[in-house]
This record gives sequence, structure tokens and C-alpha cells, in this order.
Amino acid sequence: MSDFLLKMTGVSKEFPGVKALNNVDFYIRKGEVHSLMGENGAGKSTLIKILTGIYTKDSGTIELNGRQMSPQNVLEAQAAGISTIFQELNLIPDLSIAENIFLGREPKDRFGKIQWKKIYVKSTEALKDLGINIDVQLKLKDIGAAIQQMVALVRALDINANLVVMDEPTSSLDDNEVKVLFKVIRNLKERGVSVLFISHRLSEIFEICDRVTILRDGKLVGESLIRDISHGELISKMIGKDSESIVSNKKKAIDFSTKETYLTANGISSGIMLKGIDLSIRKGEIVGLAGLLGSGRTELARVLFGDDQAANGKIEINGKKVSLKHPADAIINGVAFCSEERKAEGIIPNMSVADNITLASFSDITRFGFFSRKKQLQITNKYIKQLSIKTPGANREIKFLSGGNQQKVILARWLALKPDFIILDEPTRGIDVGAKSEIDKLIQSMANEGISILLISSEMEELVKRCDRVAVLYEGEKVGELQGEELSVDAILHTITAGHNRKLQGANK
Ligand SMILES: Nc1ncnc2c1ncn2[C@@H]1O[C@H](COP(=O)(O)OP(=O)(O)OP(=O)(O)O)[C@@H](O)[C@H]1O
Ligand SMILES: [Mg+2]
Repeated sequence: MSDFLLKMTGVSKEFPGVKALNNVDFYIRKGEVHSLMGENGAGKSTLIKILTGIYTKDSGTIELNGRQMSPQNVLEAQAAGISTIFQELNLIPDLSIAENIFLGREPKDRFGKIQWKKIYVKSTEALKDLGINIDVQLKLKDIGAAIQQMVALVRALDINANLVVMDEPTSSLDDNEVKVLFKVIRNLKERGVSVLFISHRLSEIFEICDRVTILRDGKLVGESLIRDISHGELISKMIGKDSESIVSNKKKAIDFSTKETYLTANGISSGIMLKGIDLSIRKGEIVGLAGLLGSGRTELARVLFGDDQAANGKIEINGKKVSLKHPADAIINGVAFCSEERKAEGIIPNMSVADNITLASFSDITRFGFFSRKKQLQITNKYIKQLSIKTPGANREIKFLSGGNQQKVILARWLALKPDFIILDEPTRGIDVGAKSEIDKLIQSMANEGISILLISSEMEELVKRCDRVAVLYEGEKVGELQGEELSVDAILHTITAGHNRKLQGANK
């Protein structure tokens, strides 16, 4: 018997205008953690969707445990032993955690009545196994993205799986949660379960994976044991050119003390989340917000954009006190906000790439009050090029783009507004390494034009690479600021820990 669990051979799939997969061979061994790597739009999710019965392949074969299969839907794939956590979580926000875990396979007693108690007990235990203590009767929409991931995971694990497929499970998790997930993955591996793990964060691939398969433009370009490949080689294979061009280091320190201040926020408090935060940003400065999930980063951004109201504190822009009661107030003051919730607040699925990009910059695409298609295409094509958005054209409906490319479109929308101040909440989540460095350059060039930038990222390395200064938040308080020489990943972590310890001491007093 072979030690391969899965053999996909000669798989091809074409969409109108795109050859998403071109004769790809993809093998997974039993009990290994295998990564599928490639730039945005390389075909990773498409391959997974074929494996799990969401798309039908144009050609090729799939063998699981030596047996040919051709799943027609997710349930068939599950029955064959393949569980999947998709890039877009397919959970139901209005149902409880427990209901989501057991959806479609609720245990029933002999009279056919659903055994709710059993459902609650089992869900609670399963989550506890992953180190999460939570009331499983809470509605899914009322819990954070990270716990939602874990719910999807528990749901997947509960089905007796030989293979667990995870398409970018860590993109919305913070460091601690990634650790929990990795513990779970190692646990699966010990039980002989294979894991297909997709992530754009190289450090994660090198930490958790045994082997990697690399796709470029729908073609297989390489396959290797992780221990036999370097970061540089992996990147080069993915992007098809030398990786040197994209490996960037820490940002050079610039002295901002003589530059004009753009925004000052003093004593910002809101609800239970923010406790008296002070923050100032100068013109052309890139300020990062670091902190764990739930530290108040997004909440602060929402206050600065007028999405939430500060209960206390004041905000000045260009030296004048402003009242930001609504996003419109912020926009009038030159503020833009590229939010992390791209599904909910971001894309309009049935509209074209062009319409999605120019949605907010209406005045730029009208001439004497008339809509100018030409202008719209000009702007759209500029960003398609600048951000290397993979699409057959400006008119393609955005829902057909890969996850990372949709993210780039949202980013383009805010850039097209040419704001004075832009808040970027996890702007490169789900974006591949090559495009990330393009976005880095773009952010920097905006700053060079005098635009102030507030950057939220859970990847601390990126904050260090991109920011002039980083404010560290812990449980709604600013616990430190780092800049110049003192700014490093270690220093950020240290500041968070110090904040945590101070809190503990405070609580013990
Ligand atoms: N349903 C669809 N209709 C049309 N085109 C599609 C569809 N699904 C995917 N594509 C196209 O197929 C290509 C591969 O997309 P896929 O989602 O597999 O990329 P990916 O490697 O997962 O990228 P990402 O890292 O951004 O998630 C892209 O060009 C995408 O636009
Ligand atoms: Mg994808």
C-alpha cells in the first residue's frame, strides 16, 4: 500500500478567460502537514474546491486511499473523509456556536427529537479540548473571528476525517490563537490525519508544514520537503523571479519632530473597550497599532473614522477640534478607512472590479456632472497594474476574483480617494508576498506625498518594516510607543507583556 493519502493527477479547470488550473499533480502523504503555496490567484482555492466537490474539474483524476473519487458536493467529500475549513467561513451567524458545530447532523433520540443537551455538552467539550472556554449557546455573530475559526475547526474535526483542509485559517488570528491552532494541527498529525494548510505567512509554513507544493498561474512549479527549501527559494518559485527584490528590512528612521501634526486624539474612551488613549500623527507619518486581538486597535480606528462615538476625549485634525459623529464627518475631513471586514463592509460581489474600485471616489469619475467611463477605466487600470490585481479585465464581477485579489480591490478603492489620512486595518491579510511588497511601496509613496497613515496589523514584523512609530495597545490602553532604534518585534512583545504584568499587579493591589 502506498503512503500517499491523496493523489490528484492532471487536474485542469478553466473559467471564462482564466485557466485556473493547468494539468496539476498534487499528492499528500498520510499524516503530513502539506502546504499549497502560490501568489494570489495561483489556483490554490480552486484546487481545494475541486477536491471538496464544490467545483467540477475539466479533466484529471482524484484518488483517496487508493480509490478513485469524484465528489459532487461537500457532503460527499466529507463522507469520503475530507473535512474543509474554507477561506470564507461557511458558518451561519444567526445560529449558536453549538448549532453551527452540529448543523445538519444533530444527534436525535429514538423519537427523532434533537438532543440539545448532548449538543451543548459535546460542543463545550470539543472547544475545551482546543483550549477555549465559551458559552456555546452564544450566537456566532456575537463572537470574534478567531473563535469562529475554532468553531469551524471543531465542526471539521468532529467528522471523522483523514484529511483536514484549511484555506488560510490563520489570516484572522493573532499570535496566541495561531499557537492554539498549531497545537491542534500537531495533534491531528499524531493521530495520522493529514492536513492541507494554506497561508501567505511564510514563517507559519516553515513552522508547521512538512512538505510544500507550489503553484504559479495555475501550473505546478515545484514540490519539496520544507527542510530542503529556503525562504528565498520558495518565494522565487512562487513569483517566478529572484526573491531579492522583495525582501525588505526595517524601515530607516526619519525625524518627524519638525513635521506638522495632522491629527491628535486625547483621552479617547469608548464603551468598555478604550480607556483614555492619546495618539498623534504627523503629516506623512506611518504609525502602527500593535496589540493582541481584542486590544482595541480596530475600536480606536472606528472612533477615528466616526463609525463609533468616543464617550470621552477629543480629536483635532489640522489643529482644529472635530466632531466625528458619522463616517461622513471623517471623510469630509479627509479620513479614509480600509476596514478588515471586507466581506461585510467591503466588496459588492455582483459589481465589476471597476465599479468596486471607484465606488467612493465619485467626483473623480464625473465630468461636468456626467459619469465618465473613460476616467473610471483609467483609474481602475492604474490600480490593476499598480497592485497587480489578477483579473481578466476591469469589467469582471469582483466575486470571481480570488480572495487576495478582492482584498487588493478594496485597498485600491481607498487609495483612489486620495485621502489626507488613511486607516488601514490589516491591509495585506491574505495577500501574497510579492504583492505585499508592492503594497509596502505604495503605502510608503503615499506617505512621501504627505498622507498620514495609521496601520493596524497582527503581523508585528510588518509593523516594524513599514512604520515610523508603533503604538502598543493592551486591553484598551496604550501601554507604550516605540520608534527609531528601539522599534523591533521583540520590543513590541516586551511592551505587551509589560502592559499585561502592570494590569495583573493593578488587579492584585
Ligand atoms: N468561480 C469562479 N469564476 C471565475 N473565475 C474564478 C472562479 N474561481 C476562481 N476563479 C479564478 O481562478 C483563478 C485562481 O483563483 P483561486 O481562488 O484558486 O486563487 P488562490 O490561489 O486561492 O488565490 P488567493 O491567495 O488570493 O486566495 C483566479 O484568477 C480567479 O479569479
Ligand atoms: Mg484562495
